[in-house]
Amino acid sequence: MSTTTLMMIKPDAVENGHIGNILEKVTTSGFRIKALKLTQLTRSDAEAFYDVHKERPFFGELVSFMTRGPIVAAILEKENAVSDFRTLIGATNPAEAAAGTIRKLYATSMGENAVHGSDSNENAALEAAFHFSGREQF
Ligand code: RTP
Ligand code: MG
Repeated sequence: MSTTTLMMIKPDAVENGHIGNILEKVTTSGFRIKALKLTQLTRSDAEAFYDVHKERPFFGELVSFMTRGPIVAAILEKENAVSDFRTLIGATNPAEAAAGTIRKLYATSMGENAVHGSDSNENAALEAAFHFSGREQF
């Protein structure tokens, strides 16, 4: 059964010119793009998106990073989209990410790690609605 996940290409990867390479890897790995946009998070957007981490010591740094430039948001569709996409992006810390994963290829540090992927079907649906209206989804 086809399911969805929400990807963000984070400001570091956009700044470093990796949008095209990451989209190529995503689509050749079997994900269908259901929605796609270049956008920039406001401070309140980033605080809301990462609300689950608000008590963590890195929260301020995370919000500053995620708002410093444009991101690409996308809804991706595939069987087992959430877990397969987490496998494709690799570990949060790129030093621990498996060879060939997006974070191994394009991330620079634990904080600036190139991409976001939803961690559950429930969060994928919430995050998709956060970024896209119904008429932006195909
Ligand atoms: P994401 O939500 O962005 O896909 O990343 P994730 O699930 O792999 O990692 P998560 O634990 O949800 O952390 C969210 C983001 O916070 C930043 N972070 N920095 N400096 C640090 O110790 C630290 N830990 C996490 C990363 O940008 C991480 O992706
Ligand atoms: Mg996460």
